[in-house]
Amino acid sequence: MQHVTKNAEADTTPGRGIEQGAATAGIQLGNDGLSVRLQTGEAYFNYYWLRDNCTTSIDPQTRERVFDISGLDSAPRARSAYVDGDVLVIEWSGENHISRYALAFLVDFQARGAMRDDTIMPRRLWRADHYGNFSRISQNAVLTEEKERWRFARALLEDGIALVTGMVDSDESLTWLANALGDVVPSTSDSYFFDVRLAIDPNNLAFTAKQLEMHTDLPSEQLAPGIQFLHCRANSVEGGSSLFVDGAAVAEDFRKTHPAEFELLCEYRIPFFRRSDRFDVRAHQTVIELDREGSVSGLTISQHLADVFDLPQSVLDHYYPAFCQFLRLVRSNRYMNRFRLNAGECIVFDNHRIVHGREAFNASRGKRHLRGCYVDRGALRSTYRILTKRLGL
Ligand SMILES: [Fe+2]
Repeated sequence: MQHVTKNAEADTTPGRGIEQGAATAGIQLGNDGLSVRLQTGEAYFNYYWLRDNCTTSIDPQTRERVFDISGLDSAPRARSAYVDGDVLVIEWSGENHISRYALAFLVDFQARGAMRDDTIMPRRLWRADHYGNFSRISQNAVLTEEKERWRFARALLEDGIALVTGMVDSDESLTWLANALGDVVPSTSDSYFFDVRLAIDPNNLAFTAKQLEMHTDLPSEQLAPGIQFLHCRANSVEGGSSLFVDGAAVAEDFRKTHPAEFELLCEYRIPFFRRSDRFDVRAHQTVIELDREGSVSGLTISQHLADVFDLPQSVLDHYYPAFCQFLRLVRSNRYMNRFRLNAGECIVFDNHRIVHGREAFNASRGKRHLRGCYVDRGALRSTYRILTKRLGL
């Protein structure tokens, strides 16, 4: 049975606010917005926001916004408002329009302060010796079972890393896996795919493989690559362990022990570059990246691509010590995971959150070949939202 409350009529006397607006049935009309008593308590909503988010603003076929708030002749203002069952009804003054809002929508929005987003979840931070706990999923399962693809995407959102096993040994194999999350995206300076290959000639002693320092890929890009895939096609060399660190865990710990230094690394952008005869790519990045909730969502670290720091010299007095302290922490054993990537495995990780590197290896015998590519973080999140909805999770 529907319950209709009495109208709240706006007091349109200039200068009158909520206090003076008619206050009936739990609704108070003000100059800029209204207050309504919801199940969860009193809630205030701005008139622009309400008018903009009238259900008629979205075209049901294209699911795009077809209402332009800037097209109104004057600021939106409610002439009257009432609750009809589980719907808030607003009659607008100055235009012949009535809006209806499900109270559940208003309650939900007030609680979150945002629309529902299934990809917003606490990160599971990890430290040293976590390799055994990485999510392991077979390529076949990711490609053929939606629930497994969902689990793969979720691991990347929560842990920032997942190990895919049983990879088919072909160039196309990586494309199949990456496309399970989204389109492969190119970098400005490379193509869509890259191969880290070392075909070794035992007679050539100069052909050695050095340690690869801890880094995130391509900070010189305006938008550094999101999700990185490294498909191990062959690894029969001695040494060459993979190194992986959860940068979010390091930075959250650093925030607790060195709050002032943490702020410096969040606030100031430093320059990175990548140059050849063909390109000259440059971008400024913060070393620590925060999400909308203020949690650490990523790092940018790459000593071999760092350009000349161009912060004011007096800022560098404080910045450099903080920077060095943080980099030493990233490389410390407290966070380090060392393991061997085997042929047929593909390590997939958030290139912003996870810092990676490689130990030196003996290049006199064997073969090492990794094939890599990137997919946007946004594509991962989109896939996760769609799968969550489709699977009813
Ligand atoms: Fe890399």
